[in-house]
Amino acid sequence: MIRSVVRGTGAALPRRIMKNADFEGMVETSDEWIAQRTGIRQRHIAADDETTASLGEAAARAALDNAGLTPADIDLIVLATSTPNNTFPATAVDIQNRLGMHHGFAFDLQAVCSGFVYAVTTADLYIRGGLAKRVLVIGSETFLDWSDRSTCVLFGDGAGAMVLEAGEGAGSIADHGVLAASLRSDGAHKDKLFVDGGPSTTGTVGHLRMEGREVFKHAVGMITDVIEATFSAAGITAEDLDWFVPHQANKRIIDASAKKLGIAEQKVVVTVDLHGNTSAASVPLALSVAVADGRIKKGDLVLIEAMGGGFTWGAVLVRW
Ligand code: UT7
Repeated sequence: MIRSVVRGTGAALPRRIMKNADFEGMVETSDEWIAQRTGIRQRHIAADDETTASLGEAAARAALDNAGLTPADIDLIVLATSTPNNTFPATAVDIQNRLGMHHGFAFDLQAVCSGFVYAVTTADLYIRGGLAKRVLVIGSETFLDWSDRSTCVLFGDGAGAMVLEAGEGAGSIADHGVLAASLRSDGAHKDKLFVDGGPSTTGTVGHLRMEGREVFKHAVGMITDVIEATFSAAGITAEDLDWFVPHQANKRIIDASAKKLGIAEQKVVVTVDLHGNTSAASVPLALSVAVADGRIKKGDLVLIEAMGGGFTWGAVLVRW
């Protein structure tokens, strides 16, 4: 059977790093509050010349280099983002053009923080359905609002990318590639994490609004449910995992989810301290860090997971 196998990963971060203490003169907050409540110590912030498209392009080029491929080898780009350069066209076609790709096709996918998990699943289906052989899956975000202390200290900018390629598998858990996935959404929670503007309502871009405590309350239960569904679809348990690469929103959510699932602390990849919450970019950024430093190796069983606005949530199991 066809399997979508990981060929390479890459990342791109804005040049400017902003430490927690840098917020202290801007909004009523403190390094201590941010670090204790979230585990975040710093985040990267995009300059005017660093956009969702430019960071996405840089991450894509890094993933292609890591895979030993060029844009000519790619036939589909799926970009997960909630902060596109323009309302339309899709920022994915901008990235396609920046890469000098005038073949194949490209589109954006919007599932907020779960975007990359949804995008990997989508790319896997295009590959297994025979519509694409090599797919660039990208998560890229650039946030803007500096006025609201309840959100501005949490989010950061950046991009991560992965190249998936059609390969052969025997249909067993020993195969390389995407092995199992579980996706969920429930719009009953749409007002807990949203942007209060849009082309069809206010005609403005709007600002991010989040009831953090409400999101936190649901997060661990939703994350563990979807991971247990993925384990059961694959016929594995937490002990079989080599690496758990969760969405990086809050260290307390990551720790509580890993504990509830029985995943050992040393198997959890944590980058929230360095990047903050980069929404759809958080999982591919964390993956590329763990690949680059030699933790994730060929043959490892890796679980990615995310939960965010919508609510949307999901998990994907991949053998590297
Ligand atoms: O990525 C998508 C999914 N998003 C998430 O997973 C985020 C989920 N939520 C969270 O991570 C946490 O709820 C937060 C980090 C957002 C907040 O942590 P919390 O422990 O839930 O704090 P809280 O909202 O209950 O606020 C506690 C206090 C409040 O003051 P009072 O009412 O106790 O006097 C807030 O006004 O902290 C105050 N506060 C702040 N203080 C300093 C809120 N934001 C800040 C801030 N600096 N930036």
